[in-house]
Amino acid sequence: MWGIIATWRMAVEGITKAKEELESGGDAGNAIETAIREVEDFPYYKSVGYGGLPNEEMEVELDAAFMDGNTLSIGAVAAIKDFANPVSIAKRLAKEKVNNVLVAEGAEKFAHKEGFERKNMLTDRAKIHYRKRVKELSQEIKPYSGHDTVGMVCLDQSGKMTAATSTSGLFMKKKGRVGDSPIAGSGFYADSEVGGASATGLGEDLMKGCISYEIVRLMKEGMHPQLACETAVNHLHAELTKRRGEAGDLSVIAMNNQGEWGVATNIEGFSFAVATQKEAPTVYLTKNVDGHCIHEVASQEWLDNYMRTRMAPLEE
Ligand code: GLY
Repeated sequence: MWGIIATWRMAVEGITKAKEELESGGDAGNAIETAIREVEDFPYYKSVGYGGLPNEEMEVELDAAFMDGNTLSIGAVAAIKDFANPVSIAKRLAKEKVNNVLVAEGAEKFAHKEGFERKNMLTDRAKIHYRKRVKELSQEIKPYSGHDTVGMVCLDQSGKMTAATSTSGLFMKKKGRVGDSPIAGSGFYADSEVGGASATGLGEDLMKGCISYEIVRLMKEGMHPQLACETAVNHLHAELTKRRGEAGDLSVIAMNNQGEWGVATNIEGFSFAVATQKEAPTVYLTKNVDGHCIHEVASQEWLDNYMRTRMAPLEE
């Protein structure tokens, strides 16, 4: 059995490429890297890689992570600038015995020494978004609704599982701000003996529940990934609401080592993409109805509209 699941519709081209590798016996580490790089390289996705939206100083600072579920090796970069594919740097760092998580200049120095591709990640389109937002500064800053971190979980035919993330984080964040995506157990976790999970939404709140580890822990106790995702999201949402009066956006995806998957969210219109040995790459939309998440295959009209709005010309 093989499979790959990812947050947001933006991942479907990537998981379609990964599928080719997985069905011909490819490695879950390489396949998930292929899939995430595809998202990082596409300039119209505003919250990942090239074209990602900048921090308040108009710099694109990126976070990414990789985890190998066989060895539990982790690599991550945070607040890294000017490198094309942060996920590949994170995957490379997972091979080190120590110094697995590097930030800012340290991460850039490592990436440079290792020969990773340098690239100015700030596009003209992102600059327009920045200038528009500066005009609206009186508004409260929120993560881009419907368009956030890419997080994935992958299972290959040998039974190896991986998890990975990549994001430009919160638009207009403070310089140096780090969200959940490069934090093990919060943005991602993978254990080939159980399964993996990844999260998207408001990093500051996702971290409060170590939500990806919690989902894997629940699966280890015997829960199906769907129930594990719903339990973790509903519980964290309720705790945050009780203690703080509100909960940020929390959306998660998970897969166990049998290729069974689950998804949960506390927002409207969360989309995700999945491909397994039994299922061609498919985009779903999900909604939380009284604690249970109902997934519907996205219509062609929704898919067309998604791309049209992402790629529409921007006026200053
Ligand atoms: N979930 C991504 C972030 O908060 O940075």
